Amino acid sequence: MAKRVLVTAALPYANGSIHLGHMLEAVQTDVYVRARKMAGEDVIFAWADDTHGSPIQIRAQKEGIEPETLIERAREEHIRDYQDFGIGFDIFHSTHSEENRKHASAIFEAMEKRGDIICREIEQYWGVEDGMFLADRFIKGTCPFCKTPDQYGDGCESCGRTYRPTELIDARSALSGGALELRKSEHLFVPLGRHQEFLEGWVREKAVLPEATRGYLETWMQEGLKDWDISREAPYFGFEIPGHPGKYFYVWFDAPIGYISATDKLCAETGRDFDAYWKSTPADTEIVHVIGKDIVYFHCLFWPAMLEASGYTPPSRVQVHGWLQVNGEKMSKSKGTFILARTYLDHLEPDYLRYYLAAKLGKGQDDFDLSFEDFVGRVNGDLVNKLANLASRTIKFLHGKLDGTVAALDEAGELLLARARERLAEVPALYADFESARALRVAQEIAEEVNGYVTEKAPWKLAKSDPEQAKAIVSAGVQATKIVAAILKPVLPAWAEKVERMLKLEAPLSFANAVEPVPVGTEIGEYETLADRVDPKKFEAIVEASKADMAEAQGDGGDDGEAASYDYEVEALAEEVSIDAFGGIDLRVAEVVACAPVEGARKLLQLTLDVGPLGRRNVFSGISKSYAPEELVGKKVVLFANLAPRKMRFGLSEGMVLAAGASDDAVTVLELDPRAKPGEKIT
Ligand code: 2FM
Ligand code: ZN
Repeated sequence: MAKRVLVTAALPYANGSIHLGHMLEAVQTDVYVRARKMAGEDVIFAWADDTHGSPIQIRAQKEGIEPETLIERAREEHIRDYQDFGIGFDIFHSTHSEENRKHASAIFEAMEKRGDIICREIEQYWGVEDGMFLADRFIKGTCPFCKTPDQYGDGCESCGRTYRPTELIDARSALSGGALELRKSEHLFVPLGRHQEFLEGWVREKAVLPEATRGYLETWMQEGLKDWDISREAPYFGFEIPGHPGKYFYVWFDAPIGYISATDKLCAETGRDFDAYWKSTPADTEIVHVIGKDIVYFHCLFWPAMLEASGYTPPSRVQVHGWLQVNGEKMSKSKGTFILARTYLDHLEPDYLRYYLAAKLGKGQDDFDLSFEDFVGRVNGDLVNKLANLASRTIKFLHGKLDGTVAALDEAGELLLARARERLAEVPALYADFESARALRVAQEIAEEVNGYVTEKAPWKLAKSDPEQAKAIVSAGVQATKIVAAILKPVLPAWAEKVERMLKLEAPLSFANAVEPVPVGTEIGEYETLADRVDPKKFEAIVEASKADMAEAQGDGGDDGEAASYDYEVEALAEEVSIDAFGGIDLRVAEVVACAPVEGARKLLQLTLDVGPLGRRNVFSGISKSYAPEELVGKKVVLFANLAPRKMRFGLSEGMVLAAGASDDAVTVLELDPRAKPGEKIT
């Protein structure tokens, strides 16, 4: 066992709110940390916000505030969200801190001294309409490797490779959509190839990495490691590079250094020895990073190379998880499944999500499907009906219907408990290997067995005739409740606390003390509700609220600095015109007074429109695949009223009704509020 363990999760970017994708990683990390602490290990969880780079700078500019104000606001919001989900980090620092400046400079200077920094003139994209060099995140195009369109300039979200923006195919400004021009500027590079031998050794022997991760790292190394560009031009929100005025550390250079600076700050605050973490041998200290599969390249190639080159300790384990999907699909802003942590909290208990995530997570990096139906099934079926039921049916009964004191078990009960203790022994190692689903499965199996025993023995039938026997039976449930609570504790700390109170435990539950039975004769406390059933309707409310969140973010010009993703396409915007062009078009309110199909024309409907003082109009409209005639009668619609009448085979069409839609069967007619009066001009 290492003397000390440092755990980190990826640093959330300060430009956006925490969403359920972030929560997956936070819960995975928190459960791991809590379990190892419960096993008696010396573990710290050091975390921070990732605060630098152009998106922050541009957003602050838009809001008319300083970037420092923006990142402080984000940090407070992130801390609140995570804390309300019970994430027990030991520190939540910031990459915009003096500690981070100190360590970024130290790492850079050590690397420069060793010849690990080279200076090269490069051609870089200048946004013609933006009037500045564009950071990678503000350039989009097609991935040069896997050819996925619409990828950012620094890396592909589809295949995970990184590249320079100039390698993108059909690159354009993601800010203005405008053209790019190549201009020359001097940049600093880390020649990663110099570290190939070290990295090969680290990937193959030194680090615990998921098999899949190891596989694609091997491929990337075989393809050859390219020089990494670590500098950016002003204007850039970040740290100026020592000895290179006007050049700034690229955000991905100082972001992981945030792990070090958060540790430094924590050590200063708590009297721990910083060097023991980051200047130590891996045998003494474990450094464990939890990340998503999109940032493997940074954490498993750049990062260990930087650390090794500058005399810091490389990580001993990188745990990689997959993406969070919702109902089998990528989270979607338009479908309301891009759910913010706060929106979830407004509707549902954080512990349900903690349980659901932990009950399905293992160390693999498959994508995680948050299915609303499955969520409700697992919470109501497993958490409430099995796990909480074991405690409620036995504790309530012992406390309310018997004398409330724990009794010795019968032989069958002792056997069950002995087996439960044996199973408990498997649990710490499962959690310490990120196998929380398997650990929770142990709790469920214990609960199922003991519930079965209680049901079979039916102590409620014996309460009057043989209360001692009844007590012996329910006491098995009480004893098992303690063991189950210990297994659940890393996931549901509040549950464990309630059990600690109900069973009058002298010390907080740990894996070690969970095997000790509650002493015979202990007078237990009153039952405290451990979990209530979840109402599936809550998800409908969450989806609606999430749609509203996204609409608001777009109205703010916010939207996390990224374009919203849509699952449909629209035509490009027409060329700009002056207001005079609109003046030529006369739009009027019209009421549909009659509507009928047109014989011999499958697409058309014939509308009779009341245009108030302007009389009635006959209009043919190609909307019959989207509307039944009766659906339109009574609607107030928009009529392009001065359109030259058109003679058609079926009669004269006197104007046009405005509608939207990409295809004949997906048309929506523009409809006005009932207050609009027929004939009124629309301006
Ligand atoms: O991908 C991201 O959201 C980054 N902010 C993660 C940074 S992790 C670490 F390197 F700081
Ligand atoms: Zn790709």
